[in-house]
Amino acid sequence: MNVYDSGRIADILENMGYIAAETIQDADLILFNTCHIREKAAEKLFSDLGRIEIIKNERAEKGLDTTIGVVGCVVQAEDEQISKRAPYVDFATGPLTYYRLPEILQKIARKKGECIIDTDFPAESKFDYLPQNKAKGGCSYLAIQEGCNNFCTYCIVPYTRGVETSRPIEDVINEAKRLVETGTLEINLLGQNVNSYHGEDSAGKERSLAYLLNKLAEIEGLQRLRYTTSYPADVTDELIDCHRNLKKLMPYLHLPLQSGSDKILKAMNRRHTSGQYLEVIEKLKEANPDIGLSSDFIVGFPGETDEDFQATMDMVKKVNYIQAFSFKYSRRAGTPAAIYPNQVDEKIKKERLEILQDQLFSQQLRFNKDCVGKIVPVLFESKGRKNGEIFGRSPYMQTVVVKGGDDNINQIRQVEIIKGGMNSLSGIIK
Ligand code: 5AD
Ligand code: SF4
Repeated sequence: MNVYDSGRIADILENMGYIAAETIQDADLILFNTCHIREKAAEKLFSDLGRIEIIKNERAEKGLDTTIGVVGCVVQAEDEQISKRAPYVDFATGPLTYYRLPEILQKIARKKGECIIDTDFPAESKFDYLPQNKAKGGCSYLAIQEGCNNFCTYCIVPYTRGVETSRPIEDVINEAKRLVETGTLEINLLGQNVNSYHGEDSAGKERSLAYLLNKLAEIEGLQRLRYTTSYPADVTDELIDCHRNLKKLMPYLHLPLQSGSDKILKAMNRRHTSGQYLEVIEKLKEANPDIGLSSDFIVGFPGETDEDFQATMDMVKKVNYIQAFSFKYSRRAGTPAAIYPNQVDEKIKKERLEILQDQLFSQQLRFNKDCVGKIVPVLFESKGRKNGEIFGRSPYMQTVVVKGGDDNINQIRQVEIIKGGMNSLSGIIK
C-alpha cells in the first residue's frame, strides 16, 4: 500500500510541475513516505531525517532552499514526535490526507519556518481527489479498500489508516480500464483487508470482492489479476469460486495466519482458529490444486510458549507455504497487546524467528527448485542488476531473471526455468 501511495504522491507532484531530482543533493523537495507497523520501520524515519538535515544545511550554505515533508502512518501516530525530534521538517501529512499536498506546498511557499501538520481522518475519500492513475509499467497496483475494523491486538493499522472504507465499483472498474488502456497487463488489487471489500455499484448495492474480480476479468487486454492482503475469516465460498473459474486470477494467495496456536490467535483477537484456517486452505486447494500460499507470521506475541510456537511450526509444514514474511512481535503504543503483562524476552523472539525462517526458507527453496524444467509465463518489469539481464515475475510472484532485450519489458513471455535459488529463478525466453 505504501508503494501505491508513493506512486500517487509522485503523480500529484508531477501534475504540479515537479520532476524527479538526479541526486538527493539536487532536490528542492524531499519527501518520506513512512510505515509504523513495527518499531524498526518507524525508527528508520528518524535516522534518515538526521541525514537529511545535514543535506538541508549544506544546501542552505549554497543559498538553496529545501522543503522536507513526511507522509504516512508515522505521521498519524507520532506527529508531535516528528516536530520535536526533527524541527527542520516543513510538513507532515497522514496516509489519508496526502491528496492535500498541493495546498500544503502552497502554504509553505507563502510562509516558511513553521511545520504544517495534517493528521485529519477526512470525511471525503482521497481517491476522489487524486490525479488519474495511469500505468507506469506492465503491472499496476489499484487500491480498492483502505483501513481496517479488525483490531488485531498487536496492530496499529486501524489507528493509522482508520476504519475500513471501500471504493465504489464503477470507480475501480474505470480505473482498471484506464490502467489497461495505458499498458497494464496485471492488476494487483490492494486493501488492508481486501477481501472484506464491499463497494457500492451504481444502483447503491454493496458488491463483494468476488463480484469485482468477475467484472475485472472481463476487461479485454488485462491478463493477470491478484489481490492482497486477505483476512482468513472473510474468505467466502464465492471468492474461492473465483480461484476455480477465473483464468486471469493468479494461482497465488497471501493469506496471513500470524500464529498456529489457537490460544495466541484468540489473544490476538483474530476471528479464526488454525482449524478454520486449514478448512479455507483445503477449499482453495480443491478449487485450484495449483494454488501457492504465502503468509505473515509474528513470533513472540505476549504469552507465546514453546508449545504455541511449535503449533506455528506445525502449521507452516502442514500448509507448505511457498513464501512468507515473518516478524518478531513489536510493541506498538496504543494497541492492547503493548500493555499485556506476559511480554516475551527479545532473546527468545530472536531464536524463534531464526527457527521459523529456516523452515520457511527451506520450503521456498524447495518450491523454487521444483520449478526447474518448467515453462513459466513471466511478466517482465525492468532491467536486471547485470548488463543484458532483465527480470520479471512468475504467476507465483517469484523473481525470474533472464538474458534478454528491453523489448521484453512490460510483456509476458514464456520462460524455461533452468535454475531455482532462494530468492530468484533464472531461465531462458522460449
Ligand atoms: N509486531 C510485529 N509484526 C506486526 N505486524 C503487524 N503488527 C505487528 C507488530 N506489532 C505484521 C503482521 C501483519 C504484517 C503486515 O505485519 O504479520 O500481517
Ligand atoms: Fe492489522 Fe491486518 Fe489485523 Fe487489520 S487485519 S488489524 S491490518 S493485522
